[in-house]
Amino acid sequence: MSLRLGDIAPNFKANTSIGEIDFYEYLGDGWGVLFSHPADYTPVCTTELGKTAALQGEFAKRNVKVLALSVDPIDKHHGWINDINETQNVNVEFPIIADQDKSIANLYGMIHPNASETTTVRSLFVIGPDKKVKLTITYPASTGRNFFEVLRVIDSLQLTATHSVATPADWKDGEDVIVVNSISTEDAEKRFPKGVKVVKPYLRYTPQPNK
Ligand code: BEZ
Repeated sequence: MSLRLGDIAPNFKANTSIGEIDFYEYLGDGWGVLFSHPADYTPVCTTELGKTAALQGEFAKRNVKVLALSVDPIDKHHGWINDINETQNVNVEFPIIADQDKSIANLYGMIHPNASETTTVRSLFVIGPDKKVKLTITYPASTGRNFFEVLRVIDSLQLTATHSVATPADWKDGEDVIVVNSISTEDAEKRFPKGVKVVKPYLRYTPQPNK
């Protein structure tokens, strides 16, 4: 059975490009992104890991630890990281798991046998400080993911975890947000002193409260 939103992300120990890690210890009290790619020394994966490395500062700003995975061995990871750094003009600092026995890939449902029997698809999990799964996305090998979208969702997850708001389609950090329907407009006006705009009784906007 695959992992679903709200499930506990299972812990594991892994051999990675920065040494042995315990997943929960690596995450600490912060957020995590665990993502798989099909294989080392492949073009789309090279651009994905390069983009993630370029955005390391953005993930760190949001208190998010990043962890990549493929079923290739550790020596291959080390050689490939040199190529990523060279071709993408980055410095990959986050660990890449060498999941040769596919134990973590199977634990997280990253192998979709009808897509490939042997390699992982492009799975991505955002994990909250409570170790629960907050987002899952699955892309095919042929399509690189959009890591700005991953950051955008993390902004929404972190905001909505602490304020009674939701974020509309295509929302970006700093834009107006939606007041959740569980609070009355009268309550909303008290909670959101920057103002509440009522378009319909069920569609109410307020400026982003944590800005
Ligand atoms: C790639 O990263 O380019 C790739 C990997 C596996 C299958 C297809 C493309």
